[in-house]
Amino acid sequence: MSGPDRSAALAQYRRRAAVYDLELALFEPVRRLAVERLALQPGETVLDVGCGTGLSLPLLHAGVGSRGHVVGIEQSSPMLAQARDRVRRARWRHVTLVESPVETAPIGVRADAALFHFTHDVLRRPEAVDNVVRHLAPGARVVATGLQWARGWRRPLNLLVWPAALRSVTTLEGLERPWSHLERLAGPLDVEDLMFGAVYLAWGRVAGSRRRTRSGR
Ligand SMILES: C[S@@+](CC[C@H](N)C(=O)[O-])C[C@H]1O[C@@H](n2cnc3c(N)ncnc32)[C@H](O)[C@@H]1O
Repeated sequence: MSGPDRSAALAQYRRRAAVYDLELALFEPVRRLAVERLALQPGETVLDVGCGTGLSLPLLHAGVGSRGHVVGIEQSSPMLAQARDRVRRARWRHVTLVESPVETAPIGVRADAALFHFTHDVLRRPEAVDNVVRHLAPGARVVATGLQWARGWRRPLNLLVWPAALRSVTTLEGLERPWSHLERLAGPLDVEDLMFGAVYLAWGRVAGSRRRTRSGR
């Protein structure tokens, strides 16, 4: 199966930008849980990888406080335009938005934490994950969430996962373990099933030279 397709992704989010926030409402509890797992501290720097319209920015900004720094990275102009509006309306300083594919983004900080919230196309590009991990401090926390193929007796749920994935990603490659490149590059992750196994939450710390896996999946 082939990997993510950049021009298809740009077209997909150009079409979707206007209705995106509404469509994501169902998954807001997952977002809150994901940001909670980042365990942000005042004054820290956090990366919002594939930040989209900036729906995570309020929680991330609250987590690092006014002395902290949030860096959002996003390749879709119409999605990022909404994130920019959000930042302007809230008058947040110390939120930097970078318009770029994650794989070549000039990240320019060493971060304490990184969030990959519903960013399957990013997670399935090893060079994108590598660029993020290279900009994380030793011991930095990483959290990834998103759709996954449900397993075992929950497999019939994939009749819902499939159309939802087709609407938001350009490859189904890796949907059984979307976090696998992150785990290889950052270190062992814990993985929890949410929403009856249709969504995963993976989290861990950048582990330097350790490369064994903890998820067991
Ligand atoms: C499902 S949206 C998630 C947006 C946001 N993280 C959220 O929680 O609402 C996926 C986002 O990833 C972006 N994206 C996909 N591939 C990317 C890449 N290689 N570099 C930067 N952004 C990418 C898309 O443009 C889209 O905005």
